[in-house]
Amino acid sequence: AFESSLVLVSNRQPYSHRYEDDEIVVDRPVGGLTAGLDPVMQQVDGTWIAWGDGDADAEVTDDNDCVRVPPEDPSYTLRRVWLSDEAVDEYYYGYSNQVLWPLCHDLVGKTNFEDRFWSRYQEVNEQFADAVVEQADEESVVWFQDYHLALAPSHAREALPETTLFQFWHIPWPTWDTFRVCPHREELLGGLLANDLIGFHTERYVENFLACVDACFEAATVDTDSGEVEYDGETTLVRAFPLGVDAERIGELAGEREETFWPEFKREYSIPDDSRVAVGVDRLDYTKGIPERLDALEELFETRPEWRERLTYVQKSTESRSDISEYQRLQSAVDERIERLNERFATESWRPVVRIEEHLTNPELYGLYAHSDLALVTPVRDGMNLVAKEYVAAQADDDTKDGVLVLSRMTGAHGELGDTAVTIEPYDAPELAGQIEEALTMPDHERKRRMDALRASVLENDLDTWLASLLGTVQGLRRMSTQDT
Ligand code: G6P
Repeated sequence: AFESSLVLVSNRQPYSHRYEDDEIVVDRPVGGLTAGLDPVMQQVDGTWIAWGDGDADAEVTDDNDCVRVPPEDPSYTLRRVWLSDEAVDEYYYGYSNQVLWPLCHDLVGKTNFEDRFWSRYQEVNEQFADAVVEQADEESVVWFQDYHLALAPSHAREALPETTLFQFWHIPWPTWDTFRVCPHREELLGGLLANDLIGFHTERYVENFLACVDACFEAATVDTDSGEVEYDGETTLVRAFPLGVDAERIGELAGEREETFWPEFKREYSIPDDSRVAVGVDRLDYTKGIPERLDALEELFETRPEWRERLTYVQKSTESRSDISEYQRLQSAVDERIERLNERFATESWRPVVRIEEHLTNPELYGLYAHSDLALVTPVRDGMNLVAKEYVAAQADDDTKDGVLVLSRMTGAHGELGDTAVTIEPYDAPELAGQIEEALTMPDHERKRRMDALRASVLENDLDTWLASLLGTVQGLRRMSTQDT
């Protein structure tokens, strides 16, 4: 257990409440951040501060805007921060998702720098910091999450000079050439450097961040070997902590309905018995390379007709951030391609693309992974990508069932899994079509060799390892600062 009281702060909350036929129901949002951190909080029993979206939230919180969660077995406190519709529009849809998200994913062409976005981002970050100051004291450890909250640490620091503050950045950090495009680069870096520790998924993002600090602030001292930055009287340690998944649990859940699941699933979605299956699971985001993947499949069915009826692509995608026009465009691009593929190639008994609209429970999702011959993880840029790791974790330790992970070089996960996955470049459709075929025809012993290595890596670098290493580093920093005083 963690020695001090933990205050976790993120934009997205792990549970939201809404009305359905006058009843209050609980939703769990999609996304790696909340899925990964909820089990952590259940173990630690701290306070999680997050934006209170959902229409019935005010009904369930107490006078301090707090509610105990998870609903079925309350073990920690969720404190909600209320945001007006304008604030959500400008801080969340605006600055967070039309400036920082595309900028950090190296897609400068998709950024939309509006002054009102920036003003509101500053205001909401102060609002989050105020909530932190109310929940935390000197003994607490405050853990900020992600790009929505780059300025909150410096505001919190003013009121909490002795409290340990740290932040995990769940998305990539770009090079200085990209980051310097941002007119607010100094404020953003200065906000983050109020933390005692900043964590990224990969060494590359750490290097990029340190290079940005070095280039941006003459007054900063950057030690690239130790990852230490001194700036404005503060020392900040910057390190890589690659996020993992609860691999053992995923393996167990994947095998839960071993006998019946797959035949039933194939029947439900009309997948022919003798067809191989490739799977893609994503939030509908332009960083995930979904149109690029569908283009490669079209190329495959066009140039290698022998795969028609012998390969089915199953796409499970979840709508995301749909108030933003770039996301609406992406949804149309995906819809159009799926329609075209199915119109061009479907036969009486087979469709090339099966799209799953329904919610899948975890055992169903992991069962789907376990039985799919290939996973197509093709982002044009992705901080880590946990789907790649979940797919591997779900593969039964059984030679006959090993699948193949097809993984884009542009993901954080590629750093760990790239040697044994089939590496692809997402933009090259003809090349990708060839690689999908290669993966489909890979000899059994080669599939097994690769999957054994992937499994070992994902099991070893799991969620617990990530947490132990991150929180261990935080505890170390606390002890050091206690010794100093
Ligand atoms: C990514 C981000 C998270 C975010 C998640 C879902 O994983 O790093 O911070 O919560 O996407 O996106 P959303 O905008 O719905 O919270």
